[in-house]
Amino acid sequence: MPGTGVGGLSSEQGDRSVLNLNVLVLPGDGIGTEVTGEAVKVLRVVASKWGHQLTIREGLLGGIAIHKTGTPFPAETEKLSLAADSVLMGAVGLPEFDNAPPETRPERGLLGIRKAMGVFANLRPVRSYKALLNSSPLKNELVDGVDMIIVRELNGGIYYGTPRGVYDDGPEPYAVNTMAYTKSEIERVTRMGFELARKRRKKMMSVDKSNVLECSQLWRRVVVEVAADYPDVALEHILVDNCAMQLILNPKRFDVVLTENMFGDILSDEGAVLAGSIGMLPSASIGAKKPSGAWTGLYEPVHGSAPDIAGQNKANPFGAIGSVAAMLEYSFGLTEEAAAVNRAMELVLNGGKVTADLKPAGTPATTEQVGEYVCQAI
Ligand code: IPM
Ligand code: MN
Repeated sequence: MPGTGVGGLSSEQGDRSVLNLNVLVLPGDGIGTEVTGEAVKVLRVVASKWGHQLTIREGLLGGIAIHKTGTPFPAETEKLSLAADSVLMGAVGLPEFDNAPPETRPERGLLGIRKAMGVFANLRPVRSYKALLNSSPLKNELVDGVDMIIVRELNGGIYYGTPRGVYDDGPEPYAVNTMAYTKSEIERVTRMGFELARKRRKKMMSVDKSNVLECSQLWRRVVVEVAADYPDVALEHILVDNCAMQLILNPKRFDVVLTENMFGDILSDEGAVLAGSIGMLPSASIGAKKPSGAWTGLYEPVHGSAPDIAGQNKANPFGAIGSVAAMLEYSFGLTEEAAAVNRAMELVLNGGKVTADLKPAGTPATTEQVGEYVCQAI
């Protein structure tokens, strides 16, 4: 699969070749501002080269939104995100909120927008690039040829379940979180996974903890039911602990990896080790299809706000730029443009012009330089 490997879902926008792209950008916190800055430059180059109209609005999400409005997901941002054709997010999280309760943290803003937009399937492709084999601590022969996509349920599970809270009013403090799934929540993301598998190597690995959790037992039951509609796709189940091990021992056996919200969060960071750096990973969070045929989409690199390197022009913008490629494909049906961005990224990688996280042989490139190189290569 070419490029970021997010490909596989088609958007049916007819044959309109020139589009009016209304994009909301939410840079967020830390390196979010820097990487989305480069991703937006790439989007502008694509728009001008292919003659698309591009309208970019900017909004507040996360810690910066708390500072400016008192809440991590302001009503104005919700309005803008629902009005936009597509949303590009940077990262959220600031160290000053490290000890704050979940409901007042920047991260709550991200959970809020994912839910408000109804983006229930988070597609996180993990692939190796020849030029980056030595960036991974794993042996080259283990990672060479890795090409999988993690399909993470994004609107349910323990991230959203109630009751939740820390209670200090009993004999001793106690805390509770709830993992809950309905059949339809499992079914819709499972269908998305099978559709992707059909367009890839037709292998579906469903990840659960059905030896312990009731949610996982329902998960497995629903996945098996849905699989009956996809007899051409080979289905396997794996327990999440074993999956974590197999991802390192034999990553090439995976094609589509389907899993619930928290397992997907954890496994995708592990996937970053295969790709060489978490800065490489793009993601597309997809919801319902709009009347236009485009997918509702929130595009976000997998990495966080990395406060330790924020403001230093060091962050790897590939995750954000790859997310733009995914946006062009899913939200706008612009497969040629998406392929051009993916090709440009690969050219830059092959030229060794990469940021410090990828441990290049020579002087590392800056965030802005990498963005510039990608723009030139398009
Ligand atoms: C991710 C992040 C988020 C998550 C945080 C920032 C809320 O880790 O997108 O993987 O846990 O979903
Ligand atoms: Mn995460």
